Amino acid sequence: MPFGAGGSSARASPEVPEMAEPSKTEQRKAEHVNIILQENVSAEYNYWSDVRLVHNALPEIDLDDVDVRVTFLGKRLEAPLIISSMTGGFGMGKEINANLAKGAAEVGVAMGVGSQRAALEKPELASTYAVAKDYEVPLLFANLGAPQLVPQGGKRAYGVADAKKAMDMIDADALIIHLNFLQEIVQPEGDRRAKGCLAAIRTLAAKFPLMAKETGAGISRETASRLKEAGVQAIDVGGLGGTSFSAVEHYRARKEASSLKERLGATFWNWGIPTPASVRLADVGLPLVATGGVRSGLDVAKGIALGATMAGMAKPMLEAARVSADAVATELRAVVAELKAAMFLTGSTSINDLQERPVILSPPTASWLEPREA
Ligand SMILES: Cc1cc2nc3c(=O)[nH]c(=O)nc-3n(C[C@H](O)[C@H](O)[C@H](O)COP(=O)(O)O)c2cc1C
Repeated sequence: MPFGAGGSSARASPEVPEMAEPSKTEQRKAEHVNIILQENVSAEYNYWSDVRLVHNALPEIDLDDVDVRVTFLGKRLEAPLIISSMTGGFGMGKEINANLAKGAAEVGVAMGVGSQRAALEKPELASTYAVAKDYEVPLLFANLGAPQLVPQGGKRAYGVADAKKAMDMIDADALIIHLNFLQEIVQPEGDRRAKGCLAAIRTLAAKFPLMAKETGAGISRETASRLKEAGVQAIDVGGLGGTSFSAVEHYRARKEASSLKERLGATFWNWGIPTPASVRLADVGLPLVATGGVRSGLDVAKGIALGATMAGMAKPMLEAARVSADAVATELRAVVAELKAAMFLTGSTSINDLQERPVILSPPTASWLEPREA
């Protein structure tokens, strides 16, 4: 079923105005959603299976004592979850964002909209993102890509004024700058210039609460340290093990008969730092989000026991949003129930307690954490 063919949307919102010619950015956002829903775009291995929590047969707490609430970037959340940045910028993106925002507001968790480049290029698309502010999402993130912060070919770089527009568009609490150079090198129309991104991030971090986020290839210790030094307030490690954007772009390249890009996408399908390893490596004293292949509340618990404060989920939330806002809320509540179960069984009454629990790590993830690794 293509997105929008059935189910109920969160609310009847005015249609996105008909545009004569969809821009490249709009087409790309629509293709991403359709490919991710229709093709297998997951990394070959889900590294969360390498992480085990230690069972406590005598937890000496009651399940009702378990408190999953958390404060992140100054906002109180009912659970340590973020619906990861995904979409906007094309017609169906509005329905997806409305369903995601309604679900996030109902359950009291954070949410990010997808890259807002499409609406900065074409302001008439702003409503596909702005729909999120119709709901009481306790922590809402704007989103721009690091490659757009430096000049690319004939395109000018986005600066403080553009970031402010993106924030204002959705009344955002904070800004995500996503790092996606793996995707850019596979993308048929991808941006190639990365020089100057860190300086641009430093400039934005001085003006806005900013979280840096990878999109599937993870953050090393060295990168995390440079981001911290640049002034970012939090890091979403966006590691390997879930949706692979190299895979997504492989399928787009195939459609466009771009054989080199198709091959690059296949070769780098499983490139990156596994999410659980990245949570450990990126622990340089900033709050962390574990995103990439998180598929249950047990995975969330593992991420927190490794040192994250929150976990993010994208693809499972897209699948739910395709059905309805209720399906999003139901999926979030199931994840919270699983997280509470894992906390009960490890004797953890709070997220802080869970962060102190021991974890057992096996290869291949464990190999990333041997002392010689950066
Ligand atoms: C349809 C789709 C679109 C995405 N677009 C963006 C984006 O615009 N900006 C961003 O930071 N991440 C984007 N992502 C990446 C996700 O936020 C997340 O980091 C990644 O999908 C891994 O999570 P998962 O394994 O739970 O899907 C997108 C993911 C999906 C599924």
